[in-house]
Amino acid sequence: MYRTHHCNALRAADIGQQVSLAGWIHSRRDHGGVTFIDLRDREGLTQVVFRPEENAEIAKAAHHLRDEDVIQVDGRVAPRVAGTENPKLPTGEIEVLPARLTILNRAEPLPFPLDAEVSNEDLRLTYRYFELRRPQLTRNLRLRHRVAKATRDYLDDQGFLEIETPILSKSTPEGARDFLVPSRILPGKFYALPQAPQQYKQLLMVGGVEKYFQIAKCFRDEDLRADRQPEFTQIDIEASFVRPDDIYTLTEGMLASIFKAARGVDIPTPFPRMTYREAVETFGSDKPDRRFGMTLVDFTEEFRESSFKLFRTIIESAGVVKAINAKGFAGITIGQVDEMTAIAKNFGAKGLAFIKIEGGEWKSPIVKFFSEAEKSALQSKLALEEGDLVFFGSDKWEIAAEVLGRIRLRVAEIQGLTKGSEELDFLWVTDFPLLRFDTAENKWNAVHHPFTRPHADDLGLLEEKRYGEMRAEAYDVVLNGVEIGGGSIRIHEPDLQAKMFSVLGVSEEEQQIMFGHLLRAFRLGAPPHGGIAIGLDRLVMLICGESSIRDVMAFPKNNRGQDLMSQSPSDVDPRQLRELHLAIAKERKPA
Ligand code: AMO
Ligand code: AMP
Repeated sequence: MYRTHHCNALRAADIGQQVSLAGWIHSRRDHGGVTFIDLRDREGLTQVVFRPEENAEIAKAAHHLRDEDVIQVDGRVAPRVAGTENPKLPTGEIEVLPARLTILNRAEPLPFPLDAEVSNEDLRLTYRYFELRRPQLTRNLRLRHRVAKATRDYLDDQGFLEIETPILSKSTPEGARDFLVPSRILPGKFYALPQAPQQYKQLLMVGGVEKYFQIAKCFRDEDLRADRQPEFTQIDIEASFVRPDDIYTLTEGMLASIFKAARGVDIPTPFPRMTYREAVETFGSDKPDRRFGMTLVDFTEEFRESSFKLFRTIIESAGVVKAINAKGFAGITIGQVDEMTAIAKNFGAKGLAFIKIEGGEWKSPIVKFFSEAEKSALQSKLALEEGDLVFFGSDKWEIAAEVLGRIRLRVAEIQGLTKGSEELDFLWVTDFPLLRFDTAENKWNAVHHPFTRPHADDLGLLEEKRYGEMRAEAYDVVLNGVEIGGGSIRIHEPDLQAKMFSVLGVSEEEQQIMFGHLLRAFRLGAPPHGGIAIGLDRLVMLICGESSIRDVMAFPKNNRGQDLMSQSPSDVDPRQLRELHLAIAKERKPA
């Protein structure tokens, strides 16, 4: 037996016991021939003390131990010398005096210290198996496990079946690029890795499964960010004969049970709801962070007849004027002004006008164009005070709102408005638009995905081709400004689905090639159905209080999609390529 106890088990009550422990050398101190070792395993730390007077031979051997060596000790539990107890450690009252030391494995010089901040993420990811020994990452993986377990228990209780769906599958358009896998047996043909199990879960509903879930791997070839990885995990759910309210209740119950299991907190349900329109109108985002104010206020009516030409002409061409009050931000630096302007331009604005309220004065080159009425409207609707800063967005509704929404988030970040907050602000965002016109592609795209059901009240608009005005029976669940999940009620009628595909520019022939299976399935008695998918990584990230999903994944990729540890993606043997009937078109520069 390697060990009788783990390293967080022994207490004063165990004094006198013979025990065996095994683990890593977390730290090592030499004090005049006595060696103190903190022995670490997954559960915690135990102090092991090698005293020459107890056992000269192994005390000598202990001198040669290094950090992260793997050892086993057999010995006796003893009280710590009075006054040297460590109240911060659960095992702080005792130490182990070894009678035997076995070195199970040595560690070479370490790539970086485990107990210090290391900013070089590439280095950390290259040695990820080493970094995983950090207590914080161990804790994150443990919480992730708790979340997955609570999910399975809850959904099992609700009668849901966990069913695996293929990884070698056919592309489902979820809005990202597919990862493709060439077929060896059928030259020139490709599987796609699933962006989500969307079509399979709908086909399971046609198959009479009624209540499906899966903790499912999804693959999307898109640009990576802190909350995006090319391969991530969803809690994927689908049910038959449901309305949005059924999905809301199920999801709320599941999240309540997850937060209870992982954080020990009771979250209030039901969650508040807000339409997409209202979310964008007041927060400039379809995933509003409502933990602070700074909401968007509309001034379109006030500036309709303005002598400030910029605003007036934008309003004349159906645009809007919106503003936020960044309270106490009048001391903005020139660097911050540049940064905010860059954000505004990045999201499509032509500029970012602002007014500083300083020394009782309104400081801004544009104030001289404002009438008294306009100024007093700003004053009262924004509740302006000394030290405030007003930002303006004037553009098409979507752009003005998004720009101010982004500025709002950045100001909140600079001001630390949510720092250290324990608040959990859950929100349903409902009534998303169904379709959005993509000017670059010159076609309509699905906002959610092509299987999403139009709002029953808006079906008439489909006939009238007023696509941009149609709402979807789609919803997102948001936590503290992060979209943690999204779903919809689906189309189950073959004719409506075919119609939707044609609106999206998929010809009848392409429909048969790409979606023939789904359309045929819908002709064999498809029940009404709907569902949701929760981004497990994002949810666990928020539960752990981390700011990147990489911190809650065992082996994440870096921001270029590389696994630096195993050096993937990598070159392959030319023979493998030949077998797959593939050739690399051009020599590319190595990454
Ligand atoms: P959607 O595309 O909105 O919906 O995805 C659902 C949730 O998955 C998470 N997510 C991601 N997490 C990490 N990295 C990514 N690259 C990534 N992309 C998405 C988000 C998101 O809310 N099939 C539909 C669901 C449905 O209609 O039932 C779907 O996949 O938290
Ligand atoms: P200009 O008249 O171009 O010098 O702009 C005056 C101020 O308005 C500058 O601070 C610009 O950044 C800002 N501005 C320009 N276009 C817009 C816009 N569409 N919305 C908000 N501010 C703008």
